[in-house]
Amino acid sequence: MRKKLFAANWKMNLGPKEGVQFCRDFLNLISPDAQREWVIFPPSITLSSIYPILKGSPVKLGGQNCYFEEKGAFTGEISPGMYRECGATYILVGHSERRQIFGESDQICSRKIKLISENGIIPMLCVGETQMERDENQTQDVLKRQLNEGLRFWNPSTPLTIAYEPVWAIGTGKVATPNMAEEAHLEIRKILGQIAGGANRAAEIQILYGGSVKPENSREMMAFPNIDGFLVGGASLVPKTFAQIGQIPL
Ligand code: PGA
Repeated sequence: MRKKLFAANWKMNLGPKEGVQFCRDFLNLISPDAQREWVIFPPSITLSSIYPILKGSPVKLGGQNCYFEEKGAFTGEISPGMYRECGATYILVGHSERRQIFGESDQICSRKIKLISENGIIPMLCVGETQMERDENQTQDVLKRQLNEGLRFWNPSTPLTIAYEPVWAIGTGKVATPNMAEEAHLEIRKILGQIAGGANRAAEIQILYGGSVKPENSREMMAFPNIDGFLVGGASLVPKTFAQIGQIPL
């Protein structure tokens, strides 16, 4: 049975000091629950400050981005091994902001995923269509391409998490309807079955929804069988709001 996973993508918010305060407050608001998992993706520079606070708690840590080489002359980049050393057990790959603002291709995503998995870290691959692609009925094709290309070097025996984030819903206040999200998640699971060599393996993979998730709109979605949790941006910056999202009755 898949556990529910609640992930906070802080993006370029909450430096070390604010991050520490957030984690102290947040841990007071949640209690361990065998059916739920939590992960925070802080800015890289915040990781080491909050790791000692979260260690031993139900909240795991993740990196928002990494490079696809172990080390070397790559100014400004961080390798999966370095993230692991700082306590990260997840790394986001292919967030739409990385794809759109920093020009990351599916091919780059695939190289990152390979190295992340080799380092024993769980990649969380973000996929999703733009408004124009949805309007032109290309959602399925986009998902197929992003998954097939992005997971080209992924070994299906290693852990993986997917975040479905329709680009038009990120930071816009426009949220996919629960039916829309469930439909996309089902499609993603079908494609994963083809890539991973069977529906059984695909059934083990958590698929999160992301895009303007708030306490008010998350409850209804959670009831859908293929929605395994959320990747939350803006609403994850306030401990109480993120805790509310993650503590929806199951
Ligand atoms: P949002 O961001 O919740 O602010 O829309 C989600 C994300 O980008 O992961």
